[in-house]
Amino acid sequence: MFNAEDTKKRVGAYAADFIENGMTVGLGTGSTVYWLLQTLGERVQQGLQFSAVPTSRQTQTLATELGITLTELNAVNELVLTIDGADEVDARLQLIKGGGGALLQEKMVAAASKQLIIIVDENKMVDTLGKFPLPVEVIPSGWKQVHRKVMGMGCTKAAIRQKNEQAFITDNGHYILDCYFEQITDPVNLNIALHLVPGVVETGLFNGMADMVITGHSDGRIDTKS
Ligand code: A5P
Repeated sequence: MFNAEDTKKRVGAYAADFIENGMTVGLGTGSTVYWLLQTLGERVQQGLQFSAVPTSRQTQTLATELGITLTELNAVNELVLTIDGADEVDARLQLIKGGGGALLQEKMVAAASKQLIIIVDENKMVDTLGKFPLPVEVIPSGWKQVHRKVMGMGCTKAAIRQKNEQAFITDNGHYILDCYFEQITDPVNLNIALHLVPGVVETGLFNGMADMVITGHSDGRIDTKS
């Protein structure tokens, strides 16, 4: 049996095989992607050459330390693929992301990619999205109005994410409103409805974006769904 950290490590290392010489790719954010980056760093030392658009300052810093060549989203036309983590994945490969607060850049980079590969451990697989609070990135000066609106949309509780007893600030200078919907039965329409609320910058619902989900299991199996 493998513990959760070992499983993330194995999935991250497995996914590194998708990155080949000469590619320009997107690199996600989080504790599973951490292991992908470690493996890629080793391969760069062994001669692998590729360039990558990071989805957060956290990934930018780590990738730089590991010797991975970075570029910017505005400097590329299209990315061959992006590999990223997720907080929840349902059977239709719809996702909740943003547990690490990087959802805006993650969604922009994913949308610029021909293929989005998601790496998770089995605990992230769910029947219905929503147990994990949905991160919604909001303009700080208008968050209370967004809060009022989401509470009328089936949300049972919503709170501004905190870090060190202060509002957490995203890489793009916004707040995250963590929204407890419990059961999101129609993520497509919820995403559209949230985007119509002035002050909402982006949501953590990634609908129809994932092409492949690689799941690590505690018994050592790694399976792929597409
Ligand atoms: C970052 O904002 C998130 O979208 C992450 O991709 C997601 O939270 C998964 O992270 P872990 O691999 O750390 O669970």
